Amino acid sequence: MQQAQYITALIDYIISSPTAFHAVASATRLLKQNGFTRLNEEKIWDRLPSGKYFVTRNDSSLIGFSLGGDNGPTSLQMIGAHTDSPCLKIKPNPVQENHNYLQLGVEVYGGALLGPWFDRELSLAGRVSWCDSEGALQSALVDFKRPIGIIPSLAIHLDREANEKRKINKQTDLVPIIGLNDDIQDGFQKILQKQVCTQYPDLDDPDITDHELFFYDANPPALTGLANEFITSGRLDNLLSCFAAVQALLVADPAENCLIILNDHEEVGSVSSCGAQGPFLRDILERLLPEVEKRQTALRSSLLISADNAHAVHPNFADKHDPRHLPQMNHGPVIKLNANQRYATNGRTAGRFRMLCRRAGVPVQEFVMRNDMACGSTIGPLTAAETGVDTVDVGIASLAMHSIRETAACTDCWYLYRVLQTFFNPGQQQ
Ligand code: CO
Repeated sequence: MQQAQYITALIDYIISSPTAFHAVASATRLLKQNGFTRLNEEKIWDRLPSGKYFVTRNDSSLIGFSLGGDNGPTSLQMIGAHTDSPCLKIKPNPVQENHNYLQLGVEVYGGALLGPWFDRELSLAGRVSWCDSEGALQSALVDFKRPIGIIPSLAIHLDREANEKRKINKQTDLVPIIGLNDDIQDGFQKILQKQVCTQYPDLDDPDITDHELFFYDANPPALTGLANEFITSGRLDNLLSCFAAVQALLVADPAENCLIILNDHEEVGSVSSCGAQGPFLRDILERLLPEVEKRQTALRSSLLISADNAHAVHPNFADKHDPRHLPQMNHGPVIKLNANQRYATNGRTAGRFRMLCRRAGVPVQEFVMRNDMACGSTIGPLTAAETGVDTVDVGIASLAMHSIRETAACTDCWYLYRVLQTFFNPGQQQ
């Protein structure tokens, strides 16, 4: 694959992945198309022969792996990333009618940068559930795929100090408008039911009882910059890494043992049945390697590359970075380090990643947070603590992290893929 082709496929992946549920569904589609078999956690697996497999949990986290032999892996090359992104989630009883506007109440999911959510055409996607005629619980993913909402700013004439002092009240200021009461006859459940029936014509008017729906920017990703250097889009954190992980797994050497884990709930602390501080990966590893000592031996011989975006230096705010650690765009993946274990990288795992970059012919840089600012974290330290596997935290340098529209650089996306692909093909000559 060439860089241009990769970026086009990446943009397709982001468009088809407005929520963590869809990020897993899109990854599932790619894996199935390439001969991966779906496993079910509710069934006994027995001993898996060599081959390509994947399993999902809550429809929002995924583990995919390729086994090189029939007797369980003696070591694993692993890549981790997260499927969720900060956004606005619809409340259980969201409908509000105010001054003839129809609005939907939302909760803020994760550490969203809220300013950029105003004056955006918003669409809605997620998962809905209902009880079918046999009394069984059913669910389906929905995506309106077109602008249906907007959170208009307050005009500057009504708030003269907006540029100096505007604050955002998450309860009262952020309620998207989805229409005018004059025009809308259907209740919200009916609107959801119609959307489900449009997407799934075989379904017979399901009576939707529950929903997990998220607003997202209806504007598709764009290539930006005089030379199309940049990719601008929502959810670059962390779909850039999810896509690179999936693509690397598709071309993994079939003689090797390679695994990717894409976790939901990173942006809200990772404590859940499918989050990085939950048992998902451990459960799957126990199935692959039921014998305790064999599993421990394999894990101590393994490496996890935890991939999540890093902060590129911002030209207008360069003093927010340590002056000796200024990740630049298109200068390669960033190794993230933190003395207080907010990142799992140590000198040896950093060295292993550096060697991989050299083999892949990809530049590499480092990031450490300023001492007078708090450092973020990611799934790396949590996964390392849950499994005991040696881990390196890395990521693509990006701007405006957690905005509804983030910026990264195209060649960096390609570089990350090349390193991960090299990781899953240790015997390949570059
Ligand atoms: Co992230």
